[in-house]
Amino acid sequence: MIEQSGQTNTVAESQVDVVRRNSAPFNPWRLSVAPMIAWTDRHCRFFHRLLTREARLYTEMITTGALIHGNVPLHLDFNEVEHAVALQLGGSEPADLAHCAKLGERWGYDEINLNCGCPSERVLKGAFGACLMNEPQLVADGVKAMRDAVSIPVTVKHRIGIDDETRYSFVRDFVGTIADAGCEVFIVHARNAWLKGLSPKENREIPPLRYEVAHQLKRDFPQLTIVINGGITNDEAVEHHLAHVDGVMVGREAYHRPWWLTEWDARYFGAAPSTLTMDEVEDAMCAYIERACAKREDLYWPAITRHMLGMRQGLKGSRRWRQVLSDFRLKHGPVREAFALAHQPAAAAVTA
Ligand SMILES: Cc1cc2nc3c(=O)[nH]c(=O)nc-3n(C[C@H](O)[C@H](O)[C@H](O)COP(=O)(O)O)c2cc1C
Repeated sequence: MIEQSGQTNTVAESQVDVVRRNSAPFNPWRLSVAPMIAWTDRHCRFFHRLLTREARLYTEMITTGALIHGNVPLHLDFNEVEHAVALQLGGSEPADLAHCAKLGERWGYDEINLNCGCPSERVLKGAFGACLMNEPQLVADGVKAMRDAVSIPVTVKHRIGIDDETRYSFVRDFVGTIADAGCEVFIVHARNAWLKGLSPKENREIPPLRYEVAHQLKRDFPQLTIVINGGITNDEAVEHHLAHVDGVMVGREAYHRPWWLTEWDARYFGAAPSTLTMDEVEDAMCAYIERACAKREDLYWPAITRHMLGMRQGLKGSRRWRQVLSDFRLKHGPVREAFALAHQPAAAAVTA
């Protein structure tokens, strides 16, 4: 099924190239799926790549410590089909960042993104995440060290302020300092991070969104690629922001309503529309899951199907479909049987 869709898309791709050559230069950051810990692992990215060939995908944040002291292939291996895919790093020591960026480039990633937006507390050595916004020069040094080490783009994802610091000059100077170190792409999660008193989840919901700050950054730094993120859940909002900035990054809505991604290639990249049906996507995922589970005996299919649970949202039978595909008690059975069971009407399944 994947191969078939690949053939269809090869033809479509040449048409897309013609469109691209004759119109504005291709902007790879126009629409992307956000890095999300425990969500955008390689299996999720494989699934998303079936739905959109064009949108940029991001890994979960991987700390420099995990790469320096841990199992590098476990953290960095990915499927070739995932391109374009960016590796997001969490860390602050320039030498460590440079080392990990080099690993990422060697592994074949298309971009290294530095996380300056995660509302984590300081860690033992240095810091990572949003608190780095208080140390723009350290971030600039890290960006420079990574840029010196690799030839792929080095980008930064950040918030618009920390705690009750809401002056525009704070984020403007942060971006300016990092841009002076050579960073050309900024992904702006358009709310403050409150480092004390809020959980990471609350930090994605409670600090108010201030989109106009990201729009102003684009006006002040027209030469930079500014991507906006936070609370963007439909085409109307995407189109609104694309009139002000270069790109939109979507997180939770992409994960929970993945079928939306099938509209992105045609609508936002001038590419051929996706032709895969939900049944074909399921079939492709089954084949993928069988291969993945055959390679790793500690991997069970619900760890992969969990990323698909939003696909049939709102359709008849979707509740049962979700229940079966998230039922870890069934994990020892073949995945194809689980999908078959998921499609049976509830009553039939009980008597079966
Ligand atoms: C489960 C979860 C995990 C996340 N992990 C990361 C992460 O690893 N790195 C990061 O920069 N942001 C992370 N985020 C934040 C998202 O990338 C994004 O900035 C945020 O969800 C706002 O976008 P949205 O409203 O479109 O979801 C995470 C968000 C969620 C929901």
